[in-house]
Amino acid sequence: MEMKITLVPGDGIGPDIVHEAVRVLDKIAEVYGHSISYKTIDAGGISIDKYKVPLTDDALETAKASDAVLLGAVGGPKWDHVEGKLRPEKALLGLRSGLGLFCNFRPAVIYPELADASPLKTSVIKDGIDLLVVRELTGGIYFGERGRSDDGRTAWDTMKYSDAEIERIAKKAFEAARVRRHHVTLVDKANVLESSRLWREVVSEVAKSYSDVSLDFMYVDNASMQLVRDPGHFDVLLTENMFGDILSDEASMITGSIGMLASASLRNDSFGMYEPIHGSAPDIAGMNIANPIATILSAAMMLRYSFALTKEADAIENAVKKALSDGVRTKDIAAGGDFVGTDECGSEILRRLV
Ligand code: IPM
Ligand code: MG
Repeated sequence: MEMKITLVPGDGIGPDIVHEAVRVLDKIAEVYGHSISYKTIDAGGISIDKYKVPLTDDALETAKASDAVLLGAVGGPKWDHVEGKLRPEKALLGLRSGLGLFCNFRPAVIYPELADASPLKTSVIKDGIDLLVVRELTGGIYFGERGRSDDGRTAWDTMKYSDAEIERIAKKAFEAARVRRHHVTLVDKANVLESSRLWREVVSEVAKSYSDVSLDFMYVDNASMQLVRDPGHFDVLLTENMFGDILSDEASMITGSIGMLASASLRNDSFGMYEPIHGSAPDIAGMNIANPIATILSAAMMLRYSFALTKEADAIENAVKKALSDGVRTKDIAAGGDFVGTDECGSEILRRLV
């Protein structure tokens, strides 16, 4: 198969970890007889430094012309003081909306080898954690009308959803639940927000076509509490953009494996953008200590979702599991013990690929 991949190393540790994922992809291509062509674009702080904007039209066009995007991370304190419109985060939002990626999958799983790293008591995580946050990514308060009054002393952001936007993401959540544990929890604030009440109506309607999947509803404040009280309860959490942003951070933290978690941003065709859940960690950039596993697993997700290369994706995931069970640890997951560098971690995974 021929794959055209856009790389977005971005800022901070982004280039370090994307480099390791590319080594893994190249090895997969060699072993399984695929050909990959890469184009690299600047996005985030690096683009601000070079072109004065977080994402250029050219960069977006390059991404559009490819089959899939692999992103490291964007942002850092260096750009904290730039004006709202020009912040590095705008690059992410621009890619998501420019590429039409309305569906964000953020799986949170506990790796048994790392269960000690979870901040939750063993009794709470005894059944493991294996949940999937399905976050709406191109609507709601992130993209609604916002503004300031003339005197600058009043500001507003609007959370707005159409039934069509809700329906398409709901279908994605139910489809995902079908190949998991057949349960969807819609997380909302329907006791207060009108948009949440529309979510409930539309999602209930969609549910009728998925009789093998059960649906329940939970207010977002309660969901944030249940996530630490009984995370094993959840299978698929379906939610609007901002609630999904908040809950996915919580969900990833309780696994104790934030350096390990990958994510996919999708639409209705096979195109997707794949990135680690963690941020750009500028304090350790270029020091060869970042954990490349989340990005390597993002590359596996890319093979699975955008290219339907199940064998190849499995091979990467198995190599990661083997490396972990053989005791390979980067600093963040070493619990004070011995650890390897970013590049060595990549090499250990490469060695176990076939
Ligand atoms: C995320 C991030 C982004 C978001 C920021 C950087 C704009 O927090 O991907 O979760 O809020 O979506
Ligand atoms: Mg976030």
